[in-house]
Amino acid sequence: MSHHLVELIELRHTYPDGTVALDGVTFTITHGEAVGVIGANGAGKSTLLLHLNGYLTPGSGEVRIGHSLLTKETLPEIRRTVGMVFQDPDDQLFMPTVFDDVAFGPCNMGLALQDIEKRVTAALDLVEAGHLRDKPPYHLSGGEKKRVAIATILSMEPSILVMDEPTSGLDPHARRQLIRLMGDFHHTKIFTSHDLDMVMELCSRVIVLSHGKVRADGAPREIFADEKLLAECRLEKPLSMQGCPVCGVNS
Ligand SMILES: Nc1ncnc2c1ncn2[C@@H]1O[C@H](COP(=O)(O)OP(=O)(O)OP(=O)(O)O)[C@@H](O)[C@H]1O
Ligand SMILES: [Mg+2]
Repeated sequence: MSHHLVELIELRHTYPDGTVALDGVTFTITHGEAVGVIGANGAGKSTLLLHLNGYLTPGSGEVRIGHSLLTKETLPEIRRTVGMVFQDPDDQLFMPTVFDDVAFGPCNMGLALQDIEKRVTAALDLVEAGHLRDKPPYHLSGGEKKRVAIATILSMEPSILVMDEPTSGLDPHARRQLIRLMGDFHHTKIFTSHDLDMVMELCSRVIVLSHGKVRADGAPREIFADEKLLAECRLEKPLSMQGCPVCGVNS
């Protein structure tokens, strides 16, 4: 797919109750970019991500993945290309066991049993959840569910990784490990997060959403240096840019 381009053109989304969640969003993400979509609660981040593999249908505007317009016809191909981790892992896990959930995608891809087994083992190992494979997902802790939800996407080996709040609910070790895993993923990755230090560490580009519009789009250091923008969008500098509170030295 030439080559994992993600393009939104004047995307608008209005929920049935009349809430305008996206109000003319336009941007292009090229292959290999690591993009953090940030903004206040309710800014439209999850709604935006849900459009990237067709979980929502645009009210108007277009979504293009690798030059294919997202339509009913292109949806299966686009879902194979774009792996989406939802904000709430309960939306992702629905099978009787962890193994079945992580195997679901590879099974649907028609892989042979031994390849499915290999993919499930590898994906669960990446999130250190191999010991959970026979458990029912509803018996897992919040952070365990999150890790398994991420494994359900990794097992499909997507070309574009889309994650909504991937570190929420993770303990510090699991967070660090996920950051490493995402850093090792060299294709396009797009994620939302309120973990601005992770955004700073992983992203080459930050898109700031506010009230369903792109308020800023640029390099993380520039975005996080703009105090007026941050205040208007209910954001703060990452801790790593706030300097030392004891000696007052700025980083
Ligand atoms: N199913 C829905 N029906 C009606 N309004 C909705 C629905 N889902 C979301 N919204 C509204 O759309 C807007 C954008 O919501 P969205 O979930 O995209 O925000 P967000 O930026 O992901 O916020 P958060 O940081 O809290 O996850 C909000 O005003 C929200 O109340
Ligand atoms: Mg959200």
